Amino acid sequence: MDYFPAFLDLKSKKCVIVGGGEVAHRKTKAVLKSGAIAYIISIEFSEKFNDFPKDRCFLIKDEFNSQHLTDATLVIAATDSLSINKKVANEANKLGIPVNVVDEPSLCSFIMPALIDKSPVVIGISTGGNSPVLTRRIKEIIEVNLPSNIGLLSKIMGSWRKRVKERFNSFDMRLKFWEKLMDSEVPQLVFKNKLVLADQKIQEQLRNNSFENSVGEVYLVGGGPGDPELLTLKALRLMYQCDVVLYDRLVSKEVLNKVRPDAEFISVGKSESQHTVEQHKINEMLILLAKEGKKVLRLKGGDPFIFGRGGEEINELAKSNIPFQVVPGVTAASGCGSYAGIPLTHRDYSQSVRFLTGHLKDGKLDIDWKNLNNKQETLVFYMGLLSLPKICEELMKHGMPSSMPIAAIEHGTTYNQRVVTSTLDKISLEVLELELKSPTTFIVGEVVKLRGHLNWYG
Ligand SMILES: C[S@@+](CC[C@H](N)C(=O)[O-])C[C@H]1O[C@@H](n2cnc3c(N)ncnc32)[C@H](O)[C@@H]1O
Repeated sequence: MDYFPAFLDLKSKKCVIVGGGEVAHRKTKAVLKSGAIAYIISIEFSEKFNDFPKDRCFLIKDEFNSQHLTDATLVIAATDSLSINKKVANEANKLGIPVNVVDEPSLCSFIMPALIDKSPVVIGISTGGNSPVLTRRIKEIIEVNLPSNIGLLSKIMGSWRKRVKERFNSFDMRLKFWEKLMDSEVPQLVFKNKLVLADQKIQEQLRNNSFENSVGEVYLVGGGPGDPELLTLKALRLMYQCDVVLYDRLVSKEVLNKVRPDAEFISVGKSESQHTVEQHKINEMLILLAKEGKKVLRLKGGDPFIFGRGGEEINELAKSNIPFQVVPGVTAASGCGSYAGIPLTHRDYSQSVRFLTGHLKDGKLDIDWKNLNNKQETLVFYMGLLSLPKICEELMKHGMPSSMPIAAIEHGTTYNQRVVTSTLDKISLEVLELELKSPTTFIVGEVVKLRGHLNWYG
């Protein structure tokens, strides 16, 4: 490790910043945030310095000299003159005061990390001054996975520390208590701002001294059509905190890679034509795992509430009093439409859009064909690969012109995406010839023509 990471308590401590420009202003702002008293030394100051509180930020119009460092806890040199910055570093080093020189790592006795500030939770990130871009990327990754009110959780936990200490006098017991609390529903209640309930639960858990029988929770999460960047922030967070994941065949490998690696992975292999694990068994597994106190991620392709049987699964959970949350995902229709350059609605062509299932039940399609012949409406067929000839035949039989444009999108939003555009009378043959496989979604309507000039994904 090149640097020793430490958090300093600067409350009411004298910090000296040398410089009066933009950079010095930024550093002063950071130092003041931690409760320090700032002394800024410069011949000139930018106007912005006047916004700082006068009782904690003293502007000293002077050339820097060692006297300015008397009783200082920390020094930052932020002038645009290398010679002044060097002088500041030398004087600070002589007095043994930690010094940071902006953009001059060799003159620094400490460096300042990039911060994620969700006070009192503060995360510092450093690449040892090697790569600010990498630092920013790391920051993004952490930010995405951090609930916005993690600071509040930290405050609440802090407010209980004394009582927990009184209740358990051994360190091990206290550790166990906090670990179990973190695994309980309390953090989620705080994140949902249900603070009274969270408080009650902590009280209960403190009284019981046992979490053994506590029930877990199920997260019914939409994994989107394939591109992992289409996952919501909430989906990502829950994917990272689950104990076990039950996933369908439709969930892409890239999306699955975002699940906490040490979670237990269970493939329930469900696809429209082949139910590897029957639905009622999946429902039972979800209930059983949650009753064991686990955080269970039920990860589905697309959106769980659009041809995803999500409603049935949570219905069973509700009946068994298992807590759950539902996180929507990008459904195949929007994903495929966007990545194929086909807007599902368009002022000039289509005023509405209808999602339909082409899933055959006892060899039949249960669709109200009479109401589908509307030139102003886009139709999106899910699970229509096997039934495509029947879909096209019925649409034409009910008045849709055989020249109506139709697009087939296979593996939409992924690197393997294939798009075929055709017309109702020809598509079935083309899909057969090109050997399109599941998952494929079909878009029917005038909007398909727009792909000609809106295709951006290749
Ligand atoms: C059982 S449904 C699940 C739909 C899913 N819940 C959703 O909201 O997208 C399966 C159908 O979704 C469509 N589908 C899902 N992912 C797709 C993808 N990446 N590309 C094309 N179609 C997809 C296909 O029509 C597939 O047959």
